[in-house]
Amino acid sequence: MSKFYVTTPIYYVNSVPHIGHAYTTIAADILARYYRQKGDIVYFQTGTDEHGAKIAQAADKQGLAPQEFVDKIVPQFEKTWEILNIDYDFFIRTTDKNHKKIVGEILSLIKANGDIYKDRYEGLYCVHCERFYTEGELENGLCIYHQEKPTFHQETNYFFKLSRYRDKLLRALEDKSDPNYYEILPRARRNEIIGKIKSGLQDISISRETLAWGVKVPWDEKQVVYVWVEALLNYFSGPKIARKDVWPPDVQIIGKDILWFHAVIWPAMLMSAGVSLPKKIFAHGFFTIDGQKISKTLGNVIDPVEVSKKYGIDALRYFLFSEVSFGDDGIFSLKRLEERYSSDLSNGLGNLVQRVAAMVEKYLDGEIFRGYSEVDSAPFERHMEELEFHKAIEYIWSELKGLDQYIEEEKPWRLAKENNPRLPEVLGNLMASIQELNKMIAPFMPETGQKIDEIFGGNKVKLKEPLFPRIDE
Ligand code: MSP
Repeated sequence: MSKFYVTTPIYYVNSVPHIGHAYTTIAADILARYYRQKGDIVYFQTGTDEHGAKIAQAADKQGLAPQEFVDKIVPQFEKTWEILNIDYDFFIRTTDKNHKKIVGEILSLIKANGDIYKDRYEGLYCVHCERFYTEGELENGLCIYHQEKPTFHQETNYFFKLSRYRDKLLRALEDKSDPNYYEILPRARRNEIIGKIKSGLQDISISRETLAWGVKVPWDEKQVVYVWVEALLNYFSGPKIARKDVWPPDVQIIGKDILWFHAVIWPAMLMSAGVSLPKKIFAHGFFTIDGQKISKTLGNVIDPVEVSKKYGIDALRYFLFSEVSFGDDGIFSLKRLEERYSSDLSNGLGNLVQRVAAMVEKYLDGEIFRGYSEVDSAPFERHMEELEFHKAIEYIWSELKGLDQYIEEEKPWRLAKENNPRLPEVLGNLMASIQELNKMIAPFMPETGQKIDEIFGGNKVKLKEPLFPRIDE
């Protein structure tokens, strides 16, 4: 039996979760469910990123102490994930005292390895990204993600010798026999990162002296650890706190905006501390709402819980991963969601299940006959291992179409009229194939998977309400 450790980023708690956050989290949940079904020992971790200037500012705005503020927001994340059927194994909060202790321990290891020094620093800081930028990285002097002018900071900080890891990182990315070998996916992003590493790495500041809300640098109480460095360590501290022996992560799912931290800084820190590296880092694309960037200022933030109330959780989960190839950017549109809901779910899967169940009821008295499924799960599994979610879904739906065709060809209603003894066999084959496909559907749509199991899983078919009622009903 093998273990499978999958992570999402930990979310900033300055706002409640939106559709973009739900995207990352559902992707990890799909993988976790898939590997659990295969019998692997799965450990799926998500959580919240609670330190840093951004959180301190948000707390201040509400007149709350940072700790009070985060304690108020975190349950909203937990609630959202519960509603969206996210079945994680551990939820880490960076304000956890054990996490803070482990951060200190790892930093001390990095220091003992000679990779930390003190220096003066000045630069432009975007508080929304929680990172420094050089002039060249800005567009018209503004942060490209937040269209805001970063503020100038000048302070004495501790630095991590990232520059020292250039060759080691390149070897770990390019040489499969390297003990540190790790993958960045999709391939185009990997090449981008390799190109950037080759063009040179600058040491990075890893502490802040003008900020109080954070984890203290173990050897200097006047400084707190830079929030990104601290946050990345959640992936390491989490399993320790949960007492799960699962290190290293098998897949880390993140958005493309935070790839540099995960693909370069994070592995370099682990190398320095003498810890083995994650095996795979997958960067997905960004969703826009009807073509516009998701932002509080534009007022177009879509609450995934609202969407799932109207269309069902599974319809949202299905839409997010069938509409866009995982890795690419995509457009979230409710109109498009409704279209896919009627064509693929209502008229597609839902109708097929209903039709077959009704025929079994009518012609066989509901008696379930064990038939034979010709569905091949190999292509599906290949797509899942490669995180090609949309292709996995396409495969399921093409097989479902095949079943519709089988019905049209065999015409069970005619077999019934003719008293043809092949009738139970034909309906049995349909049920067996639906059951087989349902195993593939379940990680994407857990509720639907369970419902289909209830319909065909016993000795007698249980005809129920339509799986996907028409929206106008
Ligand atoms: N706290 C950091 C992560 C630290 S991990 C050690 C962070 N948090 S975040 O809340 O801002 O974003 C979390 C995730 O949501 C990221 O993977 C990000 O890419 C994703 N998304 C945020 N907006 C998104 C879209 N509009 N579309 C798709 N994903 C997006 O970054």
